[in-house]
Amino acid sequence: MSETSLTLTRPDDWHIHFRDGEVMRAVVPETAAVYGRAIVMPNLVPPVTRADQAAAYRDRILAALPDGSSFQPLMTAYLTETTDPDNLAAGHAAGILTAVKLYPAGATTNSDAGVRDIRKVDAVLTRMAEIGMPLLVHGEVTDPEIDIFDREAVFIERILKPLMDRQPDLKIVLEHITTRQAAEFVPEGGANLAATITPHHLEINRTDLFRGGIRPHLYCLPIAKREEHRLAVRAAAVGTCNRFFLGTDSAPHPVHAKESACGCAGIYNVASALSVYASVFEAEGVLDRLEAFASLNGPRFYGLPVNADTVTLTKSGVNIADGLTAGTETIRPYHAGETLDWTLSD
Ligand code: NCD
Ligand code: ZN
Ligand code: ZN
Repeated sequence: MSETSLTLTRPDDWHIHFRDGEVMRAVVPETAAVYGRAIVMPNLVPPVTRADQAAAYRDRILAALPDGSSFQPLMTAYLTETTDPDNLAAGHAAGILTAVKLYPAGATTNSDAGVRDIRKVDAVLTRMAEIGMPLLVHGEVTDPEIDIFDREAVFIERILKPLMDRQPDLKIVLEHITTRQAAEFVPEGGANLAATITPHHLEINRTDLFRGGIRPHLYCLPIAKREEHRLAVRAAAVGTCNRFFLGTDSAPHPVHAKESACGCAGIYNVASALSVYASVFEAEGVLDRLEAFASLNGPRFYGLPVNADTVTLTKSGVNIADGLTAGTETIRPYHAGETLDWTLSD
């Protein structure tokens, strides 16, 4: 029998970009309408590197929430080669910082201030392991000699495995995984390793980026891979390993910056994400496992309680807007103008 309604513990989004200013004020209410909490990425310009900056950013996000919202932004600090371990530890103890984000310098949007030599942050990582503060990783090497489609798999071999050997007690989340190698490595990697999975990497492969012409709104990093990788990531999401969980990597950019001679990386997917995830679990015949992926596995890994309330999804059409206006900018959503299954009912 096919389900037409599904009630689950309210989900969280373990990887989101809210940006700042007008864009932030436009996108925050969309996330807050669905998710109980979200891990907020720190790659602003300039980046959020210290606890006081994270506290101020959190206040700006809270001020953008609709009245009565109980949504909680969980803040992260952007790791640099000069990060002060005491500042992170104090921010963590004060409940301001949930985690730390590693961007290899040059790997993705606003990553220039990131880490060039991972060994330069050894002392910071040792401190984080001691206090149980997770490291969130954009897992791509930046070596220009490495083909863009191989950068995640090479990162696992060159950077992640040696890092895990040096820091066996450090909790690590490999963000937005896109490859068979990552999907296979996480279950083998032990209790301190987890991964987030985006809606788009469950749906698109690299051929979709060029279907009928170049599709800038499907360009994100890590870039979508071959079909065999999409299938492996999909199997991981709907499977039984409880260290895979929901992270949309929703990353708004103005339309003109995407539709450009050098279009930037990032997909804005908040409005369609939960519909996409539900449709994937339904298609795989395991809708009953959506709750673990969306609402239970993340809090378990982060050592946080699950949300106390529930949401109900019904299998009726939901229209995804053509565009979201933020001040003078327009942002094009993933699945813009389409009607998807599974909508949140009140
Ligand atoms: C993200 C962004 O725009 O901030 N872009 C992306 O393609 N995913 C950065 C990131 O998460 O790597
Ligand atoms: Zn990233
Ligand atoms: Zn991201």
